[in-house]
Amino acid sequence: MGYTMKVSEAVLTRRSMRAFKPDPVPRQIVEWIITTASRAASNGNLQPWKLHVAMGTARQRLSQAILAAIDAGEADTREYEVYPRAFTPEYDRRRKTVGKQLYTLLGVPRGDAAGMARQFRKNYEFFGAPVGMILCVDREMGDGQWIDCGIFLDQLMLLAREKGLHTCPQAAFSRYQRVVRRELGIPDEEVVICGLALGYADVGEVPNNLWTERVSLADFTRWHDR
Ligand SMILES: Cc1cc2nc3c(=O)[nH]c(=O)nc-3n(C[C@H](O)[C@H](O)[C@H](O)COP(=O)(O)O)c2cc1C
Repeated sequence: MGYTMKVSEAVLTRRSMRAFKPDPVPRQIVEWIITTASRAASNGNLQPWKLHVAMGTARQRLSQAILAAIDAGEADTREYEVYPRAFTPEYDRRRKTVGKQLYTLLGVPRGDAAGMARQFRKNYEFFGAPVGMILCVDREMGDGQWIDCGIFLDQLMLLAREKGLHTCPQAAFSRYQRVVRRELGIPDEEVVICGLALGYADVGEVPNNLWTERVSLADFTRWHDR
């Protein structure tokens, strides 16, 4: 079948990219990634993921609509808790570490709210990626189906690597779910889980120098063998 990349290579080279080249991704490749990703396991084979793919002018329109809403001070409501309501010190440390790493790279000093907001806005342009995906799930689905959607999302990201593409998953889109819904005609029955930027990463760009750390196996694994 002409595999060109080991799974481990896809896993180890996947990281969130936050600057993309404008080069378009052929639709055929996007379709291949999505179709192949849909081989994801799902409990009861429900395949509960719903995907909205915005390209070309539709992608531009979506970005413009969200940025206009932000500029107009329109508050949207997020549909679900993208983070725990309260962070334990260890999780708080992890989240702050990655934030600090990113903003240090970008030269945005601590407390520079405007600088951070400028960077955050770029989420809504899919960091310049030509393809913007919005992942949804039917509201009536149980927690279990969100696991299935997470697996599907990861398959999209890994398969993108095989085609020389990069991604960034983006919960930021759930913050502006009403605008996303309006622009893409997403029915109320679907919950907007997140966005996914897909494109050719601009590897020379500063934010793409971010290599996030991981805790060690011993920190999250307990062996039960006797
Ligand atoms: C569900 C999900 C939502 C995310 N949302 C955002 C986001 O809105 N904006 C962003 O810049 N990164 C977002 N990220 C990327 C994470 O910050 C990133 O995965 C994490 O820091 C680990 O870095 P890595 O992906 O480069 O390995 C998200 C990741 C996941 C899995």
